[in-house]
Amino acid sequence: MEFSIKQASPEKHVSSAKLRSGCVMVGVFDGGKLADSAQLLDKSALHYISDIIARGDMTGKAASTLILHQVPNVASERVLLLGLGKRSELDSRQYRDCVRAAMRALQATSAKDALLYLAELPVKGRDSAWCISQAVLAAYETTYRFDRLKSKPEKDKKVLRHIQFGLLTAKPDAALEAALTQAVAIAQGMVLAKDLGNLPGNVCTPSYLAQQAVTLAKTHKSIKTTVLEEKDMQKLGMGSLLSVTRGSAEPAKLITLEYHGADKKQKPVVLVGKGITFDSGGISLKPGAEMDEMKYDMCGAASVLGTLQAIAEMGLKLNVVGIIPSSDNMPSGTATKPGDIVTSMSGQTIEILNTDAEGRLVLCDALTYAARFEPDTVIDIATLTGACVIALGHVASGLYSNQDKLAQELLDAGEQTQDRAWHMPLWEEYQSQLDSNFADMQNIGGRPAGSITAACFLSRYTKEYRWAHLDIAGTAWKSGKEKGATGRPVPLLAQYLINRVARGK
Ligand code: BES
Ligand code: MN
Ligand code: ZN
Repeated sequence: MEFSIKQASPEKHVSSAKLRSGCVMVGVFDGGKLADSAQLLDKSALHYISDIIARGDMTGKAASTLILHQVPNVASERVLLLGLGKRSELDSRQYRDCVRAAMRALQATSAKDALLYLAELPVKGRDSAWCISQAVLAAYETTYRFDRLKSKPEKDKKVLRHIQFGLLTAKPDAALEAALTQAVAIAQGMVLAKDLGNLPGNVCTPSYLAQQAVTLAKTHKSIKTTVLEEKDMQKLGMGSLLSVTRGSAEPAKLITLEYHGADKKQKPVVLVGKGITFDSGGISLKPGAEMDEMKYDMCGAASVLGTLQAIAEMGLKLNVVGIIPSSDNMPSGTATKPGDIVTSMSGQTIEILNTDAEGRLVLCDALTYAARFEPDTVIDIATLTGACVIALGHVASGLYSNQDKLAQELLDAGEQTQDRAWHMPLWEEYQSQLDSNFADMQNIGGRPAGSITAACFLSRYTKEYRWAHLDIAGTAWKSGKEKGATGRPVPLLAQYLINRVARGK
């Protein structure tokens, strides 16, 4: 799909000769009040639109749509009226609902290109750049399909090829163009993250993820990929990470991607993504119901790859390192057993009381390894705990940090992209839940505050640098009828990095 922004009068839009089929979208508020572009269109069409509204076929209810054909004195073959709800209630959420509805309505037609008047909408606290970015994300979200493993790909015609964002008064400025480019890069990063997440465990193995990272480095000269094998990890003393892979036939990998967008001397942001390509629980085997969803246990890794692709595409001027500890978690005669004690790369020993708390075991060694890149900031992203889903549901990711300022910056980036997180406590009082009689710590903290004690575990490996942890167990994928990866938190991470560059650090 192609996107552009242009100054244009809604009634004059003609689809480019080659495509010969188009649509103009304008907004209608609750009660039938027309948005600016709709007013212009209505005037040219001699009140054709206001007549329809008077008849009651379009009330302006939020996310309602109506397609009109051959509107008098309007060049475009179709007009899409989009209900926006009450003007006073047009906030980010309502806007996003409306835009998704518009995209679905557009895709149900055979329009090949569309001119959307969205930038003019008075969304609370947001500017036109934001409206355009969110529309791009909605366009990708509503067209996304994962059908590459069906023998006959679903035959829904993807005809919509070009989306233009219309401006009534001004020409698009550099800021708007930049927002558009960034939104497209983020949307494509989300597609990569979703594809990897949706792939089954028998395809998306640690080796497959490593291959993906190598491919990313081939397409982007600014990325360098290194893959460490189990014997290399052995030499580094990663006894914790290696304890997780012991039951699996698939070899574990430690994947590193280095993106250089700024001076070599500039300290990097390191993103560490949990890459468990299937989490059966190991000897502490999970119950059978919905176990298939544990193919999504590499969504942290997928978000690191998606974010790196996005920033490389943007050519963002900063240095970022991605680290992906990747393994399966399987039961077998060689698997780690409850009660086993292992030594992590940091030297700290861990009593593994539950082999299903494996995410923290691979992450702790990766976090220790991260220190070699002399990071400015380290952020890990992990589908870490079921407890986080109980705490925050599927709306917010759990956010933990050893620095409040960093936490705030991540919260802001989430708010900006509507890929939200919620700041959770990392108080000392929770740490004692990890006390072990036999090792420096145990890998579980009991049922109370399960997401917090998992973060506490990680905090013991991140004392040397500024660090944040995102528990994305509730946000990385959807279950049920709409089962599928969401691509989160690629928008949050990419926006955080964009904001860092804009701030000049
Ligand atoms: N990958 C899971 C977390 C998870 C579970 C994410 C369900 C999304 C949905 C993780 O490895 C895990 O199994 N965590 C355990 C930890 C427990 C044993 C302390 C959990 O949350 O039950
Ligand atoms: Mn687990
Ligand atoms: Zn897991």
